[in-house]
Amino acid sequence: MKKKLNKVAKDTNLFLKKFILKQKKTELLKPIRYGLLPGGKKIRSKLIIDIGKIFKINYYKLIQIGAAVECIHAYSLIHDDLPCMDNDRLRRGKLSTHAKFGESTAILAGNSLLTIAFEILSHPNLKIDYKTKTSLILLLSKSSGHTGIAGGQYSDLKFEGKKQSLKKIIDMQVNKTGKLFSFCCVAPVIVSKKNKYINLFNSIGSKIGLLFQIADDLIDYSGSTKKAGKKTRKDSKKGKATLISLLGYKNTVKYGDKVKLDILTKIKKFGNKTKDLADTINYILIRSK
Ligand code: IPE
Ligand code: IPE
Ligand code: MG
Ligand code: MG
Ligand code: MG
Repeated sequence: MKKKLNKVAKDTNLFLKKFILKQKKTELLKPIRYGLLPGGKKIRSKLIIDIGKIFKINYYKLIQIGAAVECIHAYSLIHDDLPCMDNDRLRRGKLSTHAKFGESTAILAGNSLLTIAFEILSHPNLKIDYKTKTSLILLLSKSSGHTGIAGGQYSDLKFEGKKQSLKKIIDMQVNKTGKLFSFCCVAPVIVSKKNKYINLFNSIGSKIGLLFQIADDLIDYSGSTKKAGKKTRKDSKKGKATLISLLGYKNTVKYGDKVKLDILTKIKKFGNKTKDLADTINYILIRSK
């Protein structure tokens, strides 16, 4: 699994480097590259590749779509670390973008990454028919804004220091993290035009995203800063509304196991074509142990 993930990360970074190189040179490119390229696992791109395999989609097209997702993801991390949000100075084992370049530069680099994602999807080099492309762009927009990441981040910050119900916490996590994972799971289905599977992969995606956020919260609770590449043991200090804050560590581990089994059951009907996907799903929880 690690080898395959590293290959996807390498291919995604290579595509992104080339894409950026072709753009007009500006002073924002340095912080953009800094926040985007080194250190990220590229797990979202790996999911796109895994599901693309089930639907027999061309690898390079999937890498391009994954690159767009990684731009959105990098933007969300740069903004997530800002002093007005989580106020974190360490990301991917180095200074976070605002700590290195200053707040205003980090905000603008983040904004630019958000729009680069849509440049990648709408670019003529992504050889997908226009109707399908428009569907991808529409879904990625919805996954990123107030009905997705931005909305979830808003709730995450509003919930700080206040006890929330299980449903509210899960809704928040599905928005801030799950919607982008849903995009990753649905995009290959959209490209394959097998529309009858869209709802199923949408629901699988939000569950994988929830699982990913649960794992991230478990890593914050018990993981090392060195291994995570970001400061751990901060969520409880900030009063973040996580499943751990509501259910406790042990029950959250159990909850995560349940979510994982539920996802694995849902993908079973696609047979042995799902091996890589199942490996990625298992890897998400293994990281937190
Ligand atoms: C961290 O995401 C933020 C969450 C949504 C929990 P990743 O753990 O995928 O971050 P990188 O890209 O590998 O640094
Ligand atoms: C961030 O969640 C989710 C985003 C959409 C950026 P966290 O705030 O828990 O992510 P980390 O732990 O800082 O990576
Ligand atoms: Mg956050
Ligand atoms: Mg954070
Ligand atoms: Mg976290």
